[in-house]
Amino acid sequence: MPKVTYIQPDGVTRVVDVRAGTTAMEAAVDNDVAGIVAECGGACSCATCHVYVDPQWAPKVPPPAPQENGMLECVLDRRETSRLSCQIVLTPALDGLVLRVADEQI
Ligand code: FES
Repeated sequence: MPKVTYIQPDGVTRVVDVRAGTTAMEAAVDNDVAGIVAECGGACSCATCHVYVDPQWAPKVPPPAPQENGMLECVLDRRETSRLSCQIVLTPALDGLVLRVADEQI
């Protein structure tokens, strides 16, 4: 089971065990991680699941598809490592992934 670390804007950290194949958004919602709103339920149409991938992990996460990239244009404070957590599928290769929850969702 991959582990994912979610870091809140205030630095509070939460590590959760995730079933491989779920998304980082689903894992956050299932484990009551604060700050991941996920209004659209993972349809890549709300951008309220914005996270920043830890720079050390960024090269290991597959790049955003065009639809995700377009939705990322809507988020506040988009950065180089911005992603929509509903589009990050947690595979064993991402065991240990570190994500920072965005300060504000949209
Ligand atoms: Fe809506 Fe990710 S949950 S875009």
